[in-house]
Amino acid sequence: MILKLCIVLIALLASSYATRKLPENFMLGAASAAYQIEGAWNEDGRGPCIWDSYTEEKGLDNGYVAADSYHKWQDDVRNAKLLGLNFYRFSISWSRILPNGTINFINQKGVDYYTNLIKALKAEGIEPIITLYYWDLPQYLQLLGGFLNSRLVEYFEDYVRLCFELYGEYVKYWLTINEPFTICYDGYGSGGNAPGLQQIGDGVYQCAHTVLKMHARAYRVYDEEFRDRFNGQVGLVINSEWREPKSNSSLDLEAQERALQFSVGMYANPVFVGNWPQVMIDRIGNRSAQEGFTRSRLPPFTEDEIAYINGTHDFFALNTYGHYMVEYQDDEPISYPSYDFDRSVKTYNNLIPSGFMLRKKLNYLQERYNPKAILITENGYRTDDILNDADRIKVLKDFLGNILDAVEEDNINVIGYSVWSLIDNFEWGSYKAKFGLIRVDFDDVDRKRTWKDSGYWYQNLTSTRILDD
Ligand SMILES: *[C@@H]1O[C@H](CO)[C@@H](O)[C@H](O)[C@H]1NC(C)=O
Ligand SMILES: *[C@@H]1O[C@H](CO)[C@@H](O)[C@H](O)[C@H]1NC(C)=O
Ligand SMILES: *[C@@H]1O[C@H](CO)[C@@H](O)[C@H](O)[C@H]1NC(C)=O
Ligand SMILES: *[C@@H]1O[C@H](CO)[C@@H](O)[C@H](O)[C@H]1NC(C)=O
Ligand SMILES: *[C@@H]1O[C@H](CO)[C@@H](O)[C@H](O)[C@H]1NC(C)=O
Repeated sequence: MILKLCIVLIALLASSYATRKLPENFMLGAASAAYQIEGAWNEDGRGPCIWDSYTEEKGLDNGYVAADSYHKWQDDVRNAKLLGLNFYRFSISWSRILPNGTINFINQKGVDYYTNLIKALKAEGIEPIITLYYWDLPQYLQLLGGFLNSRLVEYFEDYVRLCFELYGEYVKYWLTINEPFTICYDGYGSGGNAPGLQQIGDGVYQCAHTVLKMHARAYRVYDEEFRDRFNGQVGLVINSEWREPKSNSSLDLEAQERALQFSVGMYANPVFVGNWPQVMIDRIGNRSAQEGFTRSRLPPFTEDEIAYINGTHDFFALNTYGHYMVEYQDDEPISYPSYDFDRSVKTYNNLIPSGFMLRKKLNYLQERYNPKAILITENGYRTDDILNDADRIKVLKDFLGNILDAVEEDNINVIGYSVWSLIDNFEWGSYKAKFGLIRVDFDDVDRKRTWKDSGYWYQNLTSTRILDD
């Protein structure tokens, strides 16, 4: 009897040791993006966007049907409800409500689509968290130069003001622009994303200059015209993988810091500290001069712009997946202009996801930028097309455990976590990479949804709020 009691006690102790509870107000959600799930690319008045033309041009898979969420949004809401999500993060397709991106014509059917989605989520007690720009620039605005045309700031202002007017009363969290680093580096540098330009010496920086002014404009418009009425919060979604130094030598640590400044700092410094990171100003200015330019390829901000962009944050929105190892290398000799040479760090991808690296990154962000709060807007794990996705569960648990460590032991105010993704979707060129908690059958005209093990696991987590090992 006593032995039995002891065993029970030990079992109880062991289980309470191995399980942890998420803080009561910690929000759990899942994410998606318009181009990746909606389909209906030319229905009900939607205008073309750069991903329609880029995929066509490159002969890639496209988002013409995707997960068909334009028609199946009620399934998405039902699944979000069954999963027990506190919030659902989705994006508005700019060209669905403004077909050319310009305010002279508002597409009422597009407006209604998002009104219905938002109201249905609210009716189920799910907070809509809305991304205003998730990579799908209206094609008409691309013809005007896209992110290389700083007039985009004004077109964006008109669009976001409309969104705030239409949906502001329902929305507590607005995300202005998703992953500026990817937009500018892949869209205007490497050419690996729409619009596919390869202008790695100049385009990357001119794009960044425009993105930062767009974000700040959206933030200021909300602040000045809507905050009193709706009392929501606004943030920029920054992606930057952690950079882990190969050694603790001062050179490798310098390389680590430089690599971080050239990625997260490029976008976080202007918003949280003011102006570009000094190391970017120095290095790009210096190389530009040696390359024969009369001015830096990094467009300077005026004093007014620095002040206007500085402070445009209510929280730090973070997309986070893996990390890179970095190593010092001597500067590249002067040749053609390139972001990669400006940064000049040896870096290689470490594909093994690590929650501990995320914890380091959270500490870095807190120390450098001192945000009021951090919202993890994306984190996830890629698998093949399987339903028994134990690997995904293991990785997400590791990330969440380390986020809890950051909250409890490092006193970092992480307020929520969003899995990428609610459902399998169009992963920018192909349907191969599967990130969903819920499978979508892309061979089925009905785009049938089937829950994966990770979906059941997440459902359990949202209801018990207990994270076990
Ligand atoms: C949209 O742009 C096209 C040209 O690309 C033009 O023909 C059309 O009139 C524009 N529509 C609106 C509403 O501005
Ligand atoms: C560098 O130093 C940190 C802190 O002392 C330590 O945790 C880490 O293992 C060291 N890294 C290497 C590669 O030696
Ligand atoms: C940015 O704003 C902060 C907080 O108001 C201020 O301390 C800092 O000096 C500003 N940065 C610049 C470059 O003006
Ligand atoms: C600029 O480049 C020169 C020559 O490589 C170097 O001596 C100098 O320290 C650099 N200055 C800065 C600010 O990086
Ligand atoms: C649900 O979560 C609890 C607490 O972590 C765990 O003991 C239980 O096994 C989970 N059930 C399923 C079906 O995963």
